[in-house]
Amino acid sequence: MSANANRIPVPKLPESTRVAMEIYGASRGRFPGGDIIALGSGDPGFISADHIREAAKKALDAGETHYIRKGDLQEAIAEKMRTDNAINVHPGEGIVLAHGAHQAIFQAFTALVDEGAEVLLGSPGSYFESNTLVRRAVPVYIPLRPERNFRLDPTDVEARVTPRTRFLCITSPDAPTGAVQAREDLLKIAEIAQRHNLIVFSDELYEKINYGRIPHTSIASLPGMFDRTITINGLSKGWAMTGFRVGWACGPNHLMAPIHAIYHLNNISISSPAYWAGVAALRGPQDAVSEGTAIYARKMATLLDKVNAIPGLKAQFPDGTYYLWASIEGTNLDEISFTTIAQGEGVRVNPGTGFGPGGRGYVRLSCTPAENLIEEGTKRLARAAEKARSFASR
Ligand SMILES: Cc1ncc(COP(=O)(O)O)c(C=O)c1O
Repeated sequence: MSANANRIPVPKLPESTRVAMEIYGASRGRFPGGDIIALGSGDPGFISADHIREAAKKALDAGETHYIRKGDLQEAIAEKMRTDNAINVHPGEGIVLAHGAHQAIFQAFTALVDEGAEVLLGSPGSYFESNTLVRRAVPVYIPLRPERNFRLDPTDVEARVTPRTRFLCITSPDAPTGAVQAREDLLKIAEIAQRHNLIVFSDELYEKINYGRIPHTSIASLPGMFDRTITINGLSKGWAMTGFRVGWACGPNHLMAPIHAIYHLNNISISSPAYWAGVAALRGPQDAVSEGTAIYARKMATLLDKVNAIPGLKAQFPDGTYYLWASIEGTNLDEISFTTIAQGEGVRVNPGTGFGPGGRGYVRLSCTPAENLIEEGTKRLARAAEKARSFASR
């Protein structure tokens, strides 16, 4: 290491980011034996559909190796937002592309969130907390409770607004809980956002993985909300395209202008094969999207049955996403110790604290693995729970 390297100030990582990065490192196979079953993974259980992969190959063969200046993907996104989400965005000024929804959130926060601003966010949750901390803004946690199927309670939102509150984050369907925000709650939350002049970030990446009990509503489509909402979405989950890295933020031109500047600074363009694969995903046949959700629903029912049969663990069927958010309270062990024991039994689950303080006492499971891996993985989980209970009772 050069003499200067240890003078570089390294930002302190938020707890949730640190835990999440450890899981990611672990999922790259750093463990001996190599037969650990990943039962909490965020990667879809499928590869992208044939026509999507073909489009990427075709783009390369046609010499599409330059920065992308055309607007086909932005136009396809604007069309999707209009038909699926009842949101009218300008395909040029109203959409900023990103290497995945993750980066779309990062770009939007970099452009808009100031140091010291209070940011309301549900806990447990995904990336909004880390992005808030990286901006040196202040996360204000809204507890998400099992009694409401982990949906935001508008009363809890209102109770946490202060004169310093500038932003409100919504994730629907939510990860890791699988909650889908109901339209009637979003109407109340929209009224709060307008009365307190808040900007809303709405992450809707799992929109297509919805099990049908609560229809998807985009808060930007509600009266008075378009002008103050940045909607984040992408192709990673519904279209099983995590490796392509295609996401976007969209909203009113006045909020998108600073995000465009950040995009230009750190991206210029997304990669050309991903761009054309994205056009094919949005404009091509959609059967694989709905078939994928039907398969997840079936596998989720299996996973839920097996998890609820394990003494000490408890979960409920989610309204969306492929995650099962399981309480481990009955084992009387904390989630990090439980995860470590599970790891020793050959099954990897994600400890709840990787999703912020609201994740204590929970682990995230996923129904994306093959049926036989769900079968074997839950057997190992049962052995881990038994060990955990015997540890805790000592
Ligand atoms: C709620 C949520 N938002 C965003 C992301 C990031 O997705 P992407 O792969 O498109 O960057 C994830 C990934 O798991 C997620 O769970």
